[in-house]
Formats: sequence, structure tokens, C-alpha cells
Amino acid sequence: MYIARTLQELRTHLAQHRHPAFVPTMGNLHEGHLALVRRAKPLGDVTVASIFVNRLQFLPHEDFDSYPRTFADDCARLEAAGCDLVFAPAEQELYPLPQTYKVHPPGALADMLEGEFRPGFFTGVCTVVLKLFACVQPSAAVFGKKDYQQLMVIRGMVQQFALPIEIVAGETQRAADGLALSSRNGYLSAAQRDEAVQLPLALQHMARQVSEGMEIARAEAQAMAALQARGWQPDYMTVRRRSDLQAPQAGDSRVALGAARLGTTRLIDNLEF
Ligand code: PAJ
Repeated sequence: MYIARTLQELRTHLAQHRHPAFVPTMGNLHEGHLALVRRAKPLGDVTVASIFVNRLQFLPHEDFDSYPRTFADDCARLEAAGCDLVFAPAEQELYPLPQTYKVHPPGALADMLEGEFRPGFFTGVCTVVLKLFACVQPSAAVFGKKDYQQLMVIRGMVQQFALPIEIVAGETQRAADGLALSSRNGYLSAAQRDEAVQLPLALQHMARQVSEGMEIARAEAQAMAALQARGWQPDYMTVRRRSDLQAPQAGDSRVALGAARLGTTRLIDNLEF
């Protein structure tokens, strides 16, 4: 597996390939990321992962500085998963100048849910992903459903800028108890880790109640209250339609989405139903 630290190294190495399949990440890789790499493998003639902790998508009070950086481990895992090339630029390489041109996704999709609680987040994500796409020039790129809204925002960007890239969704990988794998799970104490499964359980419960006919607003309020009663600070627990993450109408296929803080760790998850 080749490790490219600069854009020039990346370009030189990719010159012999026509169809890169790409998995962008921020590192601290777990089985969820590796499943995306394995999903990407048959989609191209070279499998590329990027590792870059993107300052643009963190708010000043968020965990940019403490975000776990585990480069040697990440590379070993990527290689074992069949990755051919890692693009791991220094910040100065990707942002040699302040990034003053930015991609602003539409508010109707990007200012709610994650965007409401992390203003500017999707602008930071779109901007770096567009830039990484320009560097790697992939034919296909794989994103996890774990970050459901992010996947939709990226799909919209690719459509609206007519980027010739197939966006493929990877299923959410979970621990044995059902907690979605996440780099941020590492921030949890042992007791919090035991408690963390209550987030997917609350999503399951909310989805079941809505399937059984409960009014959505009521099911959402109950899910919020149930987590609060256990000591969580939920940002949202909501049922939306999958197509645009707006309120579902009868017959729409649905997704339950939630974000909540346990102590200082913010977890998100979702469940299609
Ligand atoms: P990161 O959080 O490292 O996630 C990289 C990719 O892994 C994303 O597509 C995410 O949805 C996926 N992923 C994370 N946990 C997963 C799980 N349990 N199962 C399946 N897929 C999972 O998302 C980002 O980085 C950044 O925003 C990025 C797109 C790299 C832009 O900086």
C-alpha cells in the first residue's frame, strides 16, 4: 500500500489508473470505515482512502485538537482491508492558502438536524470533499449511512455540480450490542459505553411506535424525554422521510435520526424503517 503525503505523489501514483474508488475519512479507523473500503474495492481499478482531519468542519469548541490521530494503526488496517493507496496530506498541503472558496449546501437540507446544532458543518464537509474529489478524481466514492444527512448532502453536491462520480452508500457497522461504531465512542467511559446502546434502542422504539400508528411528534417527544431521564442531553430524535429528510407523508419511506450527548461525547445514529 502506497502512502501519498502530497498532491504530487498522489497524482503520480494515480496516473497509471483510470478508475479510482475512494473512501474519505478522518482516520482513527474502525470496522465501519474498513467495511467502506471493502465495498469500494470492486468499484474501481485502485482503492484509495484519505485520512485528513478537516478543521473546516469543526466548530471552535469542538474536538478538532483532541480528535484521535492513529496514523500507523490506520495504515495497517487499511492495508489489511485491501486499500491500495492512502492520501494523508498535511493541513498545509490541502490548505496552503486559507480556503476562501467554499461549497454552501442548501439550507433546506443542511441547516437542520446536524446543521442546526453544528452550524457550518456541512459547508466544511462539502468543501473538503469537493477538494478531495478534485485531488483523487474518483469514479466512485463510498460514504457510510451512519452519517445519513452527510451522505445526502454529498449526493446533492455531486448531482448539482455534475461531478462524474458514483456515490455509493455503505451500511452502518455496529458493535455486538447494537451501538454504531464511531471514532467518538473512544471518548466514553466504561459506564457510558454500556449506556450508549440506549441511543439505537431509543431510535428503534421510536420507529416501532410510529409504525404502530403513534403520532410522530408524540413519539419524538417521548424519545427525547426517555433519553433525558437517563441523563443524556439529546439534540434531536426525529422521524423524517428518506428522500429529503422533511416530515414524512403517508406512504413515504422513513428514517429515524437521533443525536445526543452522553457527558461530553456527542453520538449520532439513525435507522431506516
Ligand atoms: P469519518 O467520521 O472518519 O467517517 C468516514 C466515513 O466512514 C463516512 O462516510 C462515515 O459515514 C463512515 N462511517 C463512520 N462510522 C461508520 C459505521 N459505523 N458504519 C459505516 N460507515 C461508517 O465522515 C467523515 O469522516 C468526514 O465528514 C469526511 C467525509 C471524511 C469529510 O471530512
